[in-house]
Amino acid sequence: MIDPVDTRLPVSEAVALKVQYSSRRRNCLGRLTTTTIRAVDGVDLTIRPGEAVALVGESGCGKSTLGRALLRLERVSEGAVRFAGSDLTGLSEAILRPIRRNMQMVFQDPFSSLNPRMQIGETLAEPLLVHGLASKAEARARVAEILQIVGLDPAVAGRHPHAFSGGQRQRIAIARAVIARPKFVVADEPISALDISVQAQILDLFEDLKERFALTYLFISHDLAVVRHIADRVAVMYLGRIVEEGSPESVFDNPLHPYTQALLAAVPSPDPVRERSRPNPVLRGEPPSPATAVTGCRFRGRCAHAMPVCAMADPALARGADGTHAVACFLHHQ
Ligand SMILES: Nc1ncnc2c1ncn2[C@@H]1O[C@H](COP(=O)(O)OP(=O)(O)OP(=O)(O)O)[C@@H](O)[C@H]1O
Ligand SMILES: [Mg+2]
Repeated sequence: MIDPVDTRLPVSEAVALKVQYSSRRRNCLGRLTTTTIRAVDGVDLTIRPGEAVALVGESGCGKSTLGRALLRLERVSEGAVRFAGSDLTGLSEAILRPIRRNMQMVFQDPFSSLNPRMQIGETLAEPLLVHGLASKAEARARVAEILQIVGLDPAVAGRHPHAFSGGQRQRIAIARAVIARPKFVVADEPISALDISVQAQILDLFEDLKERFALTYLFISHDLAVVRHIADRVAVMYLGRIVEEGSPESVFDNPLHPYTQALLAAVPSPDPVRERSRPNPVLRGEPPSPATAVTGCRFRGRCAHAMPVCAMADPALARGADGTHAVACFLHHQ
């Protein structure tokens, strides 16, 4: 029998995706030179309906760029992005506009993501009115409903963002992202700017909304404990590429890529005995700049297991025998 889940189209897909930025700088002779920053450098990723996929990796590895590219908030340099089977790659903003209500983003900073001059009721109603999904009266009712769902009193709709705490503002930003019932939400470090005391509540809200509205998430986070809590699948990114992918159990309990192993070893243990015996330093040096072209494996300069083949070829992300845990490392290729 065919599993009905497998026959449904992926919600979001990156196919051999590259996103490059050009940056102009003066060199030491004072001449303007253009460098190409390979922020996303050949990513294949499939996110299925109802999944929460977590994206982890060091700062600058391209997580936000990938998340934004999946929503076509970035221009695609090479490869493709699809949403629910439709190719979004070269679409103009005008053609994307009606699709946008199905794909939303939640940002890290709830202080800058809300318009300080608008009452939050207006901010929340805007997606419904812009997309012609509700009359003004209907929008008011939907605003009251969503405020209640995200844990706020509907009576606060007339207030401005400054009247709210960081956690409350993130609830409002999340409410705005989901009010038009999107299918796909990219959450980019959505709790890392919040007080520790409210982080767990906001995570619970994400989980509640996922069930309630049958949402699919790409959840970007540098906090592996958070990822473990929320993710159905984890993708580890290094210098523009996904180097390992699998269930949280397989990736965290049996990491295959030396980079994933180093990332996990860098997480402090709450157990003081284990903490004292933690290998240190675990991840040597900095990642290479995404402005330099790399040959071979992009992790080899920091890898304790580098072999001659790692300088010659770029290991593909290959799935193991279980068909789910994938790794881009010659140590694990046949
Ligand atoms: N608009 C831009 N113009 C030029 N370079 C950019 C731009 N946006 C990002 N970059 C560069 O692209 C690379 C990837 O950046 P990105 O923000 O996607 O990384 P990230 O993994 O989200 O990092 P962080 O964890 O710090 O948020 C970095 O080298 C960054 O400096
Ligand atoms: Mg980022």
